[in-house]
Amino acid sequence: MVDLYGVKIDLQTLPVLPAALNKLIEVSSDKDLSNKEIAKIISLDSGITAKILSIANSALFGGVVPIIDLNTAVTRLGRNDVKTVAMTIYISQVLKKFTLSNIVIDKFWKHSLSVAFLARKIINFYDYKNEISEEELNYLYLSALMHDLGYIILDILAPTKFKEFIIHSKNYNISLFQAEQEIFQTSHSEEAAKLFRYWNLPDPIIEIMKHHHRPTLTKPQLRNLSNIIHVADHLTNLFGYEIFEDFPHEPVQSSIYNQFNFLDNSNSEENIFDDLKNQTELFLSFSELALSV
Ligand SMILES: [Fe+2]
Ligand SMILES: [Fe+2]
Repeated sequence: MVDLYGVKIDLQTLPVLPAALNKLIEVSSDKDLSNKEIAKIISLDSGITAKILSIANSALFGGVVPIIDLNTAVTRLGRNDVKTVAMTIYISQVLKKFTLSNIVIDKFWKHSLSVAFLARKIINFYDYKNEISEEELNYLYLSALMHDLGYIILDILAPTKFKEFIIHSKNYNISLFQAEQEIFQTSHSEEAAKLFRYWNLPDPIIEIMKHHHRPTLTKPQLRNLSNIIHVADHLTNLFGYEIFEDFPHEPVQSSIYNQFNFLDNSNSEENIFDDLKNQTELFLSFSELALSV
């Protein structure tokens, strides 16, 4: 049993993470892992293997010779990309297992994908980018991809209250985060942390996700990563990929935002944002295609 939002949930009724994803997370720090070994882990799930092959053969990565085995797919896509693609597919499959009342799953998924994509992109503008390891990059991507999963838990466990919380935010013109505290006396990030623990996800993934609205509460050694998700979340909403449209968001914390250099000598912040927005749009339309194969 796991206690989510004060409700004891039978573990059997919760979706589990695919074994291959757990294995992929486990080995994410191993730089010596061969392409063959990565392919072996991914092949634990045959449905996902087929999708990866189809992505590797798609116009974006396609060569003249069709790819029929995973080893070649890993080589063609690149080790890091293949891991990212696999993780994305795993999470999208987990999401499909939930039945929701107030959340439009397509919007939720676009928001999550955009935050994960932008989290990786905006590292280039971050003052402390050199302090981030490859293992942390994997943690960052997964954590960003699942940062708002707690909304889904609350919508499943208390759909009527969920509706009330959204209306409360609008009626009092307060941020969703504040409205959530007032109606639920908890937050989506608190509740998701419990689910992540049940899923046995590594502590850094839980810690980074748990504090994405309040990065200063993150353990100092992981605060960098929470800061990145915090700003990626802000940009995602700014670019129009909100889970709930036209609701007041909390402003981005300026002390964190100022650690990013979104302008340089040759480019204005506006140009950089336009470029990031276009890249996000491209990424989302590609993901939509790739995930529907
Ligand atoms: Fe959030
Ligand atoms: Fe978010």
